[in-house]
Amino acid sequence: MFMKKNKKFFKYFREYQWSNILAMIKNNRSDPKICSDDFKNKFVVISGATSGIGYYTAKKFAAKGANLICINRNIQKSKDLCREIESEFGVKCDYLIADLSILKDIYQVAEQLINYNTPIDVIIHNAGIYLTKKEVTNDGLEKVFVVHHLSTFIINYLLMDKLISQQQARIIMVGSEGHRFAAWGIHIDDLNWEKHRYSGLKSYGTAKTAQLLSMIVFDEKFRNTGVTINTVHPGAVKSETGQENGPVYRWFKKNFLDKTLKSPDISAEALYYLGVAKEIEAVSGKFFNLTTEEEPAPPALDKEVAYELWNKSMELAGLDK
Ligand SMILES: NC(=O)c1ccc[n+]([C@@H]2O[C@H](COP(=O)([O-])OP(=O)(O)OC[C@H]3O[C@@H](n4cnc5c(N)ncnc54)[C@H](OP(=O)(O)O)[C@@H]3O)[C@@H](O)[C@H]2O)c1
Repeated sequence: MFMKKNKKFFKYFREYQWSNILAMIKNNRSDPKICSDDFKNKFVVISGATSGIGYYTAKKFAAKGANLICINRNIQKSKDLCREIESEFGVKCDYLIADLSILKDIYQVAEQLINYNTPIDVIIHNAGIYLTKKEVTNDGLEKVFVVHHLSTFIINYLLMDKLISQQQARIIMVGSEGHRFAAWGIHIDDLNWEKHRYSGLKSYGTAKTAQLLSMIVFDEKFRNTGVTINTVHPGAVKSETGQENGPVYRWFKKNFLDKTLKSPDISAEALYYLGVAKEIEAVSGKFFNLTTEEEPAPPALDKEVAYELWNKSMELAGLDK
């Protein structure tokens, strides 16, 4: 395996600033701002609501009166979730079943969302995975990249006309400070990790950087339409993430990582604030650490790569046909 020096290495090296890293460390210790407004009869779409951050966030929005559509991959967990939410909060909770690593399912769910008569007030792209070993989907694509970036990209792209016609909507992508693991940028010609050594951290960093890069272009397309798009690091919180990995990883997570993590309550508060708070109604194209705006790493701000990735994503998703 060879590691070709990324042609952007020196550009990013010059752009890194210690002050941004220090800001991140400070923000990691901050609590989220709280929004106490209601969200009665609003319509919220959220992916990956069957556990962790998605579960806490779905309940937070429901507690404030919002009706929900949850995009999940597991039918039984979805039934249990919606039954629990409807009985506890008296709102409507529906679900759509989709494996967000499979292109056919992603297209199908986007189509179903387009066909809903109700305007979508907030859409939260939350579903995510962390894989220590590389997995390739039946579509021939690296799985982490599809679940985090490509599924979000396709759904946002196909919903663009609907959201713009509503003249108001907020898209929130659950990103991560982990985008910083792609410290020297993404390998746009090797998104399937065939020429570079795969690692869980690097593939996660790439997928989360790709999300942030796509935000740059979506934000341009949504400008002055009333639709906003932002990305949030939801805190370092205890969840079910990484359960697909082997026993060593799971043991390490349970006995070490989990002991340092906070409750996903803070993630839910942050997502509710970003979805509802009046003061950020017009804020778009930003990265938040919980509710504090923060500058992402240089590779996630590279406009040239953002446009290249846009074209590549269109091609990989088959949207260019
Ligand atoms: N936890 C943290 O500290 C942290 C930090 C930064 C960012 N994040 C991000 O937060 C988001 C939520 O993660 P989490 O920590 O709450 O993890 P989690 O507890 O594992 O929840 C992940 C959710 O995504 C769903 N999901 C996974 N793969 C899917 C697929 N192929 N199709 C459809 N749904 C799928 C899971 O469904 P099942 O219930 O069926 O497994 C689950 O509902 C992720 O995007 C993650 O990268 C988390």
